[in-house]
Amino acid sequence: MADKEYTDPERMEKIVSLCKRRGFIYQSAELYGGLNGCWDYGPLGVEVKRNLKEYWWRRNVQEREDIVGLDGSILTHQSVLTASGHVGGFSDPMCDCLLSKARLRADQIEPQSGTAYHYTGARESEWSVARDFAVLLREGENENRARKTARQYYAQFHPNKSLSPKALELVGESTTEEEDTTRYNPENGSLLTEAREFNLMFKTQMGASSSEEDPNAVAYLRPETAQSIFTQFKNVLDTSRMKVPFGIAQIGKAFRNEINPRNFTFRSREFEQMEIEYFCRPEDGLRLTDEWLENRLTFYNDIGLPREKLHVLDVPDGERAHYSKKTYDIEFDFPFGCQELEGVAYRTDYDLSKHQEHSGRPIEYFDEATKEKFIPHVVEPSAGCDRTVLALLCEAFEEEEVTDAKGKSEVRTVMRLHPRVAPIKAAIFPLLKKNEEQVRISREIQHSLERFMNVFYDQTGAVGRRYRRQDEVGTPFCITVDFETLGEENPDLKDTVTLRHRDSMEQERIAISDLLPRLLDEIQ
Ligand code: GAP
Repeated sequence: MADKEYTDPERMEKIVSLCKRRGFIYQSAELYGGLNGCWDYGPLGVEVKRNLKEYWWRRNVQEREDIVGLDGSILTHQSVLTASGHVGGFSDPMCDCLLSKARLRADQIEPQSGTAYHYTGARESEWSVARDFAVLLREGENENRARKTARQYYAQFHPNKSLSPKALELVGESTTEEEDTTRYNPENGSLLTEAREFNLMFKTQMGASSSEEDPNAVAYLRPETAQSIFTQFKNVLDTSRMKVPFGIAQIGKAFRNEINPRNFTFRSREFEQMEIEYFCRPEDGLRLTDEWLENRLTFYNDIGLPREKLHVLDVPDGERAHYSKKTYDIEFDFPFGCQELEGVAYRTDYDLSKHQEHSGRPIEYFDEATKEKFIPHVVEPSAGCDRTVLALLCEAFEEEEVTDAKGKSEVRTVMRLHPRVAPIKAAIFPLLKKNEEQVRISREIQHSLERFMNVFYDQTGAVGRRYRRQDEVGTPFCITVDFETLGEENPDLKDTVTLRHRDSMEQERIAISDLLPRLLDEIQ
């Protein structure tokens, strides 16, 4: 049984650093100090993301007769999100550190025990301030630390900003023993504000309305792609002649004003979802939820996330979203702990019923066979695209000790990405850049493959170094055009090349004419 608490921060740091160094993922607006919770995918990252989305689409839409696609707008009508419950309820409890002003998720603060030092205020000469403040000290910590922190807090209110906090005299010190409290900032011991509900949606103004309060001028950036699927359910039904059970799939951006974006791209403020709303008869909901769970686990396995690193959490009563009768979280062993990758939720008829009620328009389904009218129930496999890319990168990263041709050992960094998602499928090298014939053939191979996949041509440096550069970005195949290709040494080998495999580093000889079918077979 895997240890779900296991973390490896050093490995994570290496992955983040490689992502930047080789062009997978950059901090958004890094030039200006960074936009917290937002990320830009570089030349290689964008390829991995596209490969993942295209494969998900192929498996769930193209290869299935019972699922069709949708691409809904990101800007969402206020009424849609009022009906779904997001305007009233899509919030997290939040509190602020009185000292540093850091904003924390109240439900994510680790309970702490210790002695709390309370104060009622501070004074200096004629000046004084009366405000309650407290600092939590853990066992063994010196009480002077509490006083130093309290003085820093009260110094904020002093008109002389250059005054040393040491000049302040604290008022009304008293202590209490605290057990498992979440009222103090674990970083500095400072008291936190009471928790308040904080709506996670980004609100924006539409058009040139003169009033900021005009309800018709308010729109939201969608917090999930699902809602446009529900609001377009009837249109899709009427125009595509689908019959229950059937699904509507969508890939697209979602936005949440997360209080604590963290763990690289894992919790972002702008991210992409890959969602399916699978509409069914009420009596089939629970069975289909179990079937979708298995389907999704197989999918992850097929892109290179091994089953033993995936964990299924059957979310207990009381912890599920209000609309759900059953939810499985699919979790993955990230280097920062075992965390959610996807939710498979049985949302019942909650959403369609709410939209029918709020819009006043019928959204029922008429079953031709049974002559029944009903609101379909829905099973929702909802995956995070960015989280899956992160899982793929984390799983692929490896540093292994290898011995070179001269017997010297070195560390090889290799991204063992599945060929389906690898950003570059094959790199093509002429052995010698000065050999015109080798360069010509290499370019020809490049042009014949690039219509079907992303390939890369490289002629600089020793071949060994070129292999290493490709290993580090996960290129599964390297093709080298050499003297044998020209048939100079052995006519039987004319028009063949070396195909080198990233994971085993083994090489084989293959005819140029066999390259395309062979590679297509490996990457599809
Ligand atoms: N429509 C259901 C829904 O949105 P969710 O569990 O809130 O459910 C589904 O989100 C998936 O979207 C998550 O499992 C995760 O992969 C991804 N996701 C949610 N919030 C995210 C965030 N702040 N950053 C990155 N991915 C996120």
